[in-house]
Amino acid sequence: MTHSITQQSDIPTGVNRQRRRFLTTATTVVGAIGAGAVSVPFIMSWMPSERAKVAGAPVQFDLSQLEPGRQVTIEWRSKPIFVLRRTPAILKRLDQETHLSNLRDPDSDVTTQQPDYARNRYRSIRDEYFVVIGICTHLGCIPTFRPDVAPEDLGPEWIGGYFCPCHSSRFDLAGRVFHGVPAPTNLVVPPYHYKTDTLIEIGVDPSA
Ligand code: FES
Repeated sequence: MTHSITQQSDIPTGVNRQRRRFLTTATTVVGAIGAGAVSVPFIMSWMPSERAKVAGAPVQFDLSQLEPGRQVTIEWRSKPIFVLRRTPAILKRLDQETHLSNLRDPDSDVTTQQPDYARNRYRSIRDEYFVVIGICTHLGCIPTFRPDVAPEDLGPEWIGGYFCPCHSSRFDLAGRVFHGVPAPTNLVVPPYHYKTDTLIEIGVDPSA
């Protein structure tokens, strides 16, 4: 816009020509200002604010901080993300036939609940680390992390998992929902990938 105005006013060779150029320039300036003024609201409406960009930005987590059997909760897009380091004993329990028969969707057949690369036995890229959105698929409460086996309040069948305190939905440590609870589907696995051997980035697909 500024560039074209400078070019038009640089070469005056006579009064009439100068006047014509001035009028041309003035028209161009007014036109440019008018177009600019009109376009600003549109630009502002589709340009995400810095705050929105930060709120939607991917988040990273260094897995080397996490001890076996421990879980951390980090925030991504205002949602709690559970990152759990599963032990060989946990993985073994998740795979028992008797346990699988208690689950509504043991093979992640509901494809909306995880990316394709997490549609496997443990619903994760690597068996050891489980990444999941910590929001119950019933009405959105945050399930509690209960890795203990057969605690008194959850009964002898409990092999460790997530328990939703709102209406008692149960999920295992792969986020798979049990039969007979209000939650209809498994917990949601967010998009994520490994940036390095120990650094994950949540909010970005591996193929991106
Ligand atoms: S919100 Fe979790 S069981 Fe209802």
